[in-house]
Amino acid sequence: MKLFEESKIGMLSLKNRLWRSATWLGMANKDGYVTDAVKKQYKKLAEGGVGSIIVEFTNILEEEKTYPGILSISSDSHIEGLKELADIIHSNNTHAFIQVGYGGSTTSIPENGRVILGPSAVKNPGSGITPVEMTEKDIEKIIEAMAQAALRAKKAGFDGVQIHAAHGYLYSQFLSPYFNRRMDKYGGSIKNRGRIFIETLKRMKTTAGSDFPVFIKMHSDDEWAENGLSAEDSLWIAKELEKHGIDGIEFSGGNIDPQSGNGASKPKLHKVEKQSYFKDQVSKIAAHLHVPVILVGGNRNVKLMEDILNHSNIRYFALSRTLHAEPDLPAKWLTSPEHKPRCVSCNNCWAEGGNICIIDRKKEKQI
Ligand SMILES: Cc1cc2nc3c(=O)[nH]c(=O)nc-3n(C[C@H](O)[C@H](O)[C@H](O)COP(=O)(O)O)c2cc1C
Ligand code: SF4
Repeated sequence: MKLFEESKIGMLSLKNRLWRSATWLGMANKDGYVTDAVKKQYKKLAEGGVGSIIVEFTNILEEEKTYPGILSISSDSHIEGLKELADIIHSNNTHAFIQVGYGGSTTSIPENGRVILGPSAVKNPGSGITPVEMTEKDIEKIIEAMAQAALRAKKAGFDGVQIHAAHGYLYSQFLSPYFNRRMDKYGGSIKNRGRIFIETLKRMKTTAGSDFPVFIKMHSDDEWAENGLSAEDSLWIAKELEKHGIDGIEFSGGNIDPQSGNGASKPKLHKVEKQSYFKDQVSKIAAHLHVPVILVGGNRNVKLMEDILNHSNIRYFALSRTLHAEPDLPAKWLTSPEHKPRCVSCNNCWAEGGNICIIDRKKEKQI
């Protein structure tokens, strides 16, 4: 198997095995609408040769905002701009997906009186925020908002949605015994902690149609946290999702504390031994799954990715920072597989007013 070969997921024909992992650009306007700056970035990505693009984390409820400049899919009025985005992505024979989720206590925006929900009132080690424990009514509200978001994604012409259940946001908190201390049917056993996942998937499929693809991004384990999600529980929920019709799983991981240097976006990846850093635990889980598995985290080397492809059940590779710094990296790899990515994994991607790679920010200053 090769990185640059066609493959199928359900009815979708993918031109290569590379995905752009959801990457928050922070370029939407204050109400979460698509701007020209957002369109420009996605045009570059689509022209750069990646097979499928997952548009960044979008919020599903108007009152919820995880980061400044986050895109929104919380009302029908957002559909028009999102449709323009999907059309831009499609114009280069690239598939368009969009990530949906609820941030909760993992946020960079101060509380300032807003209600931040969580499975339990457990202080977030990253933000320091203690969320309000959700009632069953709150859980139902989130599930319905996720389903409506999937329907809007379909109306906007996307090929599917991705549930954001990684990186310490609400869904990943439900799975983790560290964050989820509930005593009701949404806490305790993995069956209970994963209940919101299955209910959300089912509702999305009934609302947007059983043939509308739903993917998920989740952790292969949370072993950074004492009492975090175990690899066994991750496999258990992945198999349940598979039973209930999930169309693909992107596996990530890492500490949710941005200061730890050990998060989902690990630094200093020059040596190949440091790259594709979740491959070992994800390979173990993928061996038991039939749905397509996408590996994210430090994928920077064609030979390594093809080795993983041919020695495991991992079938796709998602890239975030390398495409952020170099949207045409897939096109370069197609002709020169030895090409070294421009991204130096310095983790200086975040900037006020829009996340532009630091190399480009420096260049702009020099002009
Ligand atoms: C600027 C930036 C924004 C990100 N935004 C998102 C996001 O919206 N959704 C998400 O699931 N992950 C997000 N991530 C994490 C990446 O998708 C990815 O999982 C992680 O960076 C590891 O992949 P990489 O080594 O290819 O960068 C973001 C990462 C960066 C650097
Ligand atoms: S800022 Fe650093 S980590 Fe981010 S894309 Fe640029 S080189 Fe890569």
